[in-house]
Amino acid sequence: RNSYSIAPSILSADLARLGEECTAVLEAGADMIHFDVMDNHYVPNMTFGPVVCKAIRNYGITAHIDVHLMVEPVDDLITRFAEAGASSITFHPEATRHVDRSLELIQSHGCKGGLVLNPATPLSTIEWLVEKIDMLLLMSVNPGFGGQSFIPYVLQKVAKARALLDQHGSAARLEVDGGVKVDNIAELAAAGADTFVAGSAIFGADDYRAVISQMRDKIQP
Ligand code: DX5
Ligand code: ZN
Repeated sequence: RNSYSIAPSILSADLARLGEECTAVLEAGADMIHFDVMDNHYVPNMTFGPVVCKAIRNYGITAHIDVHLMVEPVDDLITRFAEAGASSITFHPEATRHVDRSLELIQSHGCKGGLVLNPATPLSTIEWLVEKIDMLLLMSVNPGFGGQSFIPYVLQKVAKARALLDQHGSAARLEVDGGVKVDNIAELAAAGADTFVAGSAIFGADDYRAVISQMRDKIQP
């Protein structure tokens, strides 16, 4: 079983001070930086691209940068993010014409690659790629915005995804994104998630260290 990782989503950071915000959450105990890329096409919102990822690297952030592509199409941006210093890249399968090819493109750059399933997208979508992915990201809100409420049925989906990965002997990370808080992280871990994205729960707090420790206490009894 993978160790637990807490991945603050910088979507909810003070973007005018992005470098400092990344440093602050990492010093407060975060394991990786979750980097939400929105193109105002695949989702109705727009954020930041490869130049910002590169800027974070140049600022001196050496931690894992987990790029979540909410864009369509994906292939051009995969290459640009790999060159900009992404550690892992995930994309939504319906946003690319050739899912296997896009996954291979990520991995060919030496990055970890994964698929993201929206809340209502069935797990069967990844049936033929289970043994190829390094990560499976389950959205627990509809993508596009931070600060939304966790959709309860996704808890069951996490358990099913855990079983699917185990059945295939996969060591892929099982990541949950959307509405993750101190109050629901324990049940997500119990259902089999190992990587927890949290935007508003962490950046919305005054004390990042306190929230991250509270989250860790809930998942590491
Ligand atoms: C939503 C993004 C999430 C979001 C999570 O489209 O993928 O990463 O920032 O934010 P919270 O934790 O506030 O739901
Ligand atoms: Zn995300």
